[in-house]
Amino acid sequence: MSSEIRLVVNPRPAARDAGYGAARPAVLSAAGFAAAEREITGWPDYRATPLVSLPGLARALGVASLAYKDERGRFGLKSFKALGGAYAVRRVLEREGRPARAVTVTCATDGNHGRSVAWGARLFGCNCVIFIHETVSEGRAEAIRRYGADVVRVRGNYDDAVRHAAAEAARNGWFVVSDTSYEGYRDVPADVMHGYGVMASEIVRQLPAGEVPTHVFVQVGVGALAAAICARFWLAWGPKRPRFVAVEPARADCLVRSLEAGRPVVAHGDLETVMAGLACGEVSELAWEVLREGADAALAIGDDWAIAAVRALAAPRDGDPAIVAGETGGAGLAALLALAERAELRARLGLNGSSRVLLLGSEGDTDPEIYRRIVGRSAEEVAG
Ligand SMILES: Cc1ncc(COP(=O)(O)O)c(C=O)c1O
Repeated sequence: MSSEIRLVVNPRPAARDAGYGAARPAVLSAAGFAAAEREITGWPDYRATPLVSLPGLARALGVASLAYKDERGRFGLKSFKALGGAYAVRRVLEREGRPARAVTVTCATDGNHGRSVAWGARLFGCNCVIFIHETVSEGRAEAIRRYGADVVRVRGNYDDAVRHAAAEAARNGWFVVSDTSYEGYRDVPADVMHGYGVMASEIVRQLPAGEVPTHVFVQVGVGALAAAICARFWLAWGPKRPRFVAVEPARADCLVRSLEAGRPVVAHGDLETVMAGLACGEVSELAWEVLREGADAALAIGDDWAIAAVRALAAPRDGDPAIVAGETGGAGLAALLALAERAELRARLGLNGSSRVLLLGSEGDTDPEIYRRIVGRSAEEVAG
């Protein structure tokens, strides 16, 4: 059923007043976030993306306020991913110390991460080969080719493409720049996640003083974004940090299953969902180490909610501005829409008329053709 909703409240969260902890800095650290911020804010055309207030939608959803971090304008790449992949490419080149043109970077992607790695490769002058799986749209493949990367389509799902990229890299002496970590492969994904932290740092600066959100809803593919945001807010706000709610597609619900089980659990199948950036069956090892205690709850939702969220953001109410969000980018709002009619689930999340909710609008119209099909207008027409 594509309008389903399933909530798991984390049975083993860290205590509210627990500090970021002695163990977690080995995963993501304040120093790592600061280094990424110094580098990325120095890149040409760096600008903080807007944090947009949506009071009309907040009223309609029965919460006190709704803030939406709109990543559509991030470095012209239309998603927050521009921060992570490209920063990790820069770090690979630094570590290698060879001329960039002698280095080839590679990764698997469902679209946005590969676009960031390809953009970074062009920015810093190295070669790039990107692997995509069967159902990645041609529009997303073309957007990667535009940055000069070779794009190779392989059979199977995202996780098959990850394995393929690793094998080809080993054979050819290429460097895998993956956003997902696994045993023995942690440094590069940690760089990616420290890069994502820039988004959270901007939010901390953009919120009016003292107005820490009570809830943040973050979409989860492999969990790198969620873990980076969770860690950065934990470091910034300690016990006042927002209640952290992860959002996944019902058919790619690996974090929901993992929190329930208390250990990483794989979601099998084709993982098919309109939330293309979230079609991942395995939680990243590093992300799990933060989220297993840092996430307060996780929601799995059907695709209908994602479509409804894209449309709701495009057709604003009560004077709210129109926002262009792709199906993955609107996933946080999709969860709020799914919760609107479910009083018992809202109560379990402590979501009510006093809640200040933060959503991460992680992408704009990353595939303009799909966007037009959902909304009936182009992004340019919606944004006015
Ligand atoms: C637009 C967008 N939002 C969110 C995510 C989820 O990020 P992660 O895979 O780090 O959980 C992705 C992943 O591709 C994405 O493309």
